[in-house]
Amino acid sequence: MSEGGVHPLEPLSEDEIHQTVQVLREAGHTGEHHRFAAVTLAEPPKADVLGWVPGNGTDRRAVAYVVDRSTGKSATGVVSLTKSEVVSWDAADGHHMLLFEELFDAIGIVKADAGWQEALRRRGVEDFDGVQCDPWPAGNFDDPWAGKRVVRVVSYVRHDEHDNGYAHPIEGVVATVDTVERKVIDLVDVGNVPVPADCRNYHAGSVASFRDDLKTLDITQPDGPSFVVEGNEIRWQKWRFRVSMHPTDGLTLHTLTYRDGPKGEGEERSVLYRAALGEMVVPYGSTSAQHRWKNAFDSGELGLGRYPLLNSLELGCDCLGVIHYFDSPQVTDAGDTQLVKNAICLHEEDFSILWKHFDLETFVPEVRRSRRLVVSSIHTVGNYEYGFYWYLYQDGTIEMEVKLTGILQTQGVDGAAADPNAAVVSPGVAAPNHQHLFCFRLDLDVDGGPNTVYEMEAEPDPPGADNPYGNAFRSKATLLARESEARRDVDPFRGRHWRVVNPSRANRVGQPVSYRLLPGNSPLLLASPGSRIAERAAFARHNLWVTPFTEGETRAAGLPNLNPGGSGLPSFTAADRSIEDEDVVLWYTCGLIHVPRPEDFPVMPVERVGFLLQPHGFFDENPALDVPAPPHAEGHCHTTD
Ligand code: CO
Repeated sequence: MSEGGVHPLEPLSEDEIHQTVQVLREAGHTGEHHRFAAVTLAEPPKADVLGWVPGNGTDRRAVAYVVDRSTGKSATGVVSLTKSEVVSWDAADGHHMLLFEELFDAIGIVKADAGWQEALRRRGVEDFDGVQCDPWPAGNFDDPWAGKRVVRVVSYVRHDEHDNGYAHPIEGVVATVDTVERKVIDLVDVGNVPVPADCRNYHAGSVASFRDDLKTLDITQPDGPSFVVEGNEIRWQKWRFRVSMHPTDGLTLHTLTYRDGPKGEGEERSVLYRAALGEMVVPYGSTSAQHRWKNAFDSGELGLGRYPLLNSLELGCDCLGVIHYFDSPQVTDAGDTQLVKNAICLHEEDFSILWKHFDLETFVPEVRRSRRLVVSSIHTVGNYEYGFYWYLYQDGTIEMEVKLTGILQTQGVDGAAADPNAAVVSPGVAAPNHQHLFCFRLDLDVDGGPNTVYEMEAEPDPPGADNPYGNAFRSKATLLARESEARRDVDPFRGRHWRVVNPSRANRVGQPVSYRLLPGNSPLLLASPGSRIAERAAFARHNLWVTPFTEGETRAAGLPNLNPGGSGLPSFTAADRSIEDEDVVLWYTCGLIHVPRPEDFPVMPVERVGFLLQPHGFFDENPALDVPAPPHAEGHCHTTD
């Protein structure tokens, strides 16, 4: 039985994951051929979570994503941990995430394949043990094997164990592996590009000499951090929220509130119910046989919140300062449990100035330092690393910053046949142009809701009698009343953004309270509208979609592995539901167009992309007036009492 005191959004423990697997086995649903792509908390219905009071036990449930390796069929099982029984077993749904066992098996199958070996010999590669094989989601291109569980495998030479294989791509060889039949079912062997020979390494042992002028920089918090952690609940300054690691959604914020007013007296006001990645896609822009099919959905196909993609973070390396870590219990493919230590990092950072004014009448400055709370995780997906950083600020601002690093996806080129859709980054090595598009599912509950979304942009007044100097402009608000009206794109020339308004509550000057979504770098999907990737990643064809909250509508592209398209947002919004005065969910896509640089190789310095959620009329004034001046500041930065 679940303890009455356990909050319904507490992540599953290792014991609960074990229990879930046992219940499914004992019920006969899973046997020797079944593998577990993920087991995670089945988040209770929103109303149950919001209505929960300590001491009231809820039926605590887990959801298991299962793949039968003997048939390739997927199933979703829901287990009541409270009752230790199966609630549902849905064997009819589509393709679940790839299992690590499938990926690792595919490597062995390819290396043993005579055709693949011959293709490598033709390129002068004889030492197959020294070849690095990368299995990829195969996509869906109406191939003869459509509907089967397949992965595509590309390869690289390593000159020694630690050598960077991406400097030595084996171009023009793609093996497609049926992971159920356990054999290569298709082999592409085209072109004549030599394997680039230059080693390009980045690990410490390969760097000839290090710069020697960095002095020690220590971050100390002698009084400890300003946050309090209880289970997965975090209180910091006026913020209170929960955090979890989801197998596909990754780092997730839940039930985020801000206390408006002094400690012990203020009103705790809801900002959002849940915020996390709803999907992401990395579509490659090269037409070549080796790259045209690369469209990784690192969230839904590969499950970036799972071991071993989810990194264990190291103090002093990944995170600096006084850190609280959250571990992430996981299921293995085989149904055992595994703890990813230090999966989520929580710490505070000084973030320059919060606000300042220097009074030119008195020559007295007032300055406050900005402190931000950082909740972060890092995920390794093949050649790339993605860091997800949620920041909370003292003025009510919430920020998401994705940090992209790791190694480029590379392509062997000979000078004569340059690929117009790739950039040369090293002699004989190019990297195809690509995009990284992150769709965040933002379930805002501004003052609890219901909420209404307006598109905001500046509009110049027409010159004329009412605008004789031609300088006037206004802020135009356009109601987004239905789903069809809420597929929107950014317009930075007009400062376009979106406000989530609570129409039933006004601030001191009579405006409805709101939070606004300020977009960051927001390219759209560049692939043609008729392309298969445009169907599969339809979410990325618009920067914003808005839906009415509906239980189960959590993934922007549905279950994307091998999916032909049409799932997720296109399907959710097909009925063109009302989103006015509703519990609204925003789906916002930001990202990068990555035309690789030589400086991105052999390892890429972090690039950043993200967005802001900011109070707009949510408060009656600057909510950070009560942040005290730094107690130990030297010199003069505030008036005295
Ligand atoms: Co990139």
